[in-house]
Amino acid sequence: MIIVTGGAGFIGSNFIHEWLEHQDEPVINLDKLTYAGNPENLSVFQGDSRYKLVHGDIADTALVSGLLNEYRPRALINFAAESHVDRSIHGPGDFITTNIVGTFHLLESVRGFWDTLSSDNQAAFRFLHVSTDEVYGTLAPNDPAFSETNPYLPNSPYAASKAASDHLVRAWHHTYGLPVLTTNCSNNYGPLHFPEKLIPLVILNALAGKPLPIYGDGQQVRDWLFVRDHARAIMRVLQDGQLGETYNIGGNQEKTNLSVVQTICDHLDRLRPKPNGESYRTQITFVKDRPGHDRRYAIDASKIKQALGWEPQETFESGLAQTVQWYLDNPQWVEHVASGDYRRWVEEHYGQ
Ligand code: NAD
Ligand code: TYD
Repeated sequence: MIIVTGGAGFIGSNFIHEWLEHQDEPVINLDKLTYAGNPENLSVFQGDSRYKLVHGDIADTALVSGLLNEYRPRALINFAAESHVDRSIHGPGDFITTNIVGTFHLLESVRGFWDTLSSDNQAAFRFLHVSTDEVYGTLAPNDPAFSETNPYLPNSPYAASKAASDHLVRAWHHTYGLPVLTTNCSNNYGPLHFPEKLIPLVILNALAGKPLPIYGDGQQVRDWLFVRDHARAIMRVLQDGQLGETYNIGGNQEKTNLSVVQTICDHLDRLRPKPNGESYRTQITFVKDRPGHDRRYAIDASKIKQALGWEPQETFESGLAQTVQWYLDNPQWVEHVASGDYRRWVEEHYGQ
């Protein structure tokens, strides 16, 4: 079996769906259930003996060591993090606490468990750390895309905290021999995405008749990857990745923010036309730019493609069409997230 941390969030929950749809190996999901953790993302697996949610913090070494010793997983995949750049600008403390200190405690718990394993089990064990392309900083328009050898130049508190966690993971491999793998992925999108991030926020604001906020001139570029393609890449790295190596993951789908928002509007104009016949594009509103806003991210994914044979299955066009349709098809999920009802569910099931 494997342990996943942060599996109630956007990427972790999509990963667990992808995992359990294709195999029977059980998953324990350790999640603190912050505002970003939504157990409803995995409600389809309630009562499934292959899945168990444990409410807890990666920094709780007693809890994590207890879980490791009880379930004796062959791998742990660390998705747990504070993940939103804007929140990191308003309040960086939680990012330091979870992304840096939390990762440190998690590494120590895993190292304590790993030290007790037989040499065969030690060799087979994997700690896979899920990280971001934002650790590499920002690119000028004609710069080559980020490769694994780019220097770390993080610009936001979020990016700096993820960079620090990557360094800890690297050091635990070099110093203690912990069998680690790290992945650095570009911007994800898809179903179950919390509507504080650009794509789900724009879909839901558009449907609610609210402004679609574009920071600055909207010419910032992100390299978008469909979340299930990310999940499949992580599985390939877990299976065949070289210990101590990092793998960049990206969809080679660079788009400006303005064009992303316009494309979402075009999908909605087709799928859910407004009664007054106006385009959703009329709701686009330019707002004050994000401080320190990185201009361009782009990933060179040739290493994972060549070494592990991974390729994304979705283009931005096909993935975005599925994503917009998913939000239209799941009004109950949207309503629970928008109203905060998913928090009530967490309170009822997990107390404080
Ligand atoms: P998310 O914010 O949707 O989910 C994070 C999850 O971690 C939540 O379920 C939350 O409850 C949980 N969590 C937070 N602090 C915790 C703690 N201390 N202990 C246990 N659980 C905790 O984030 P996401 O978008 O799913 O991102 C997952 C990972 O992927 C993060 O490490 C992020 O840095 C990385 N990443 C994200 C993107 C992206 O586009 N979203 C791209 C590349 C990499
Ligand atoms: P976001 O989804 O927050 O991801 P990240 O900052 O990690 O790349 O934002 C994606 C891009 O969209 C980023 O350049 C900021 C921009 N953006 C807006 O223009 N308006 C918004 O309301 C949001 C949330 C983001």
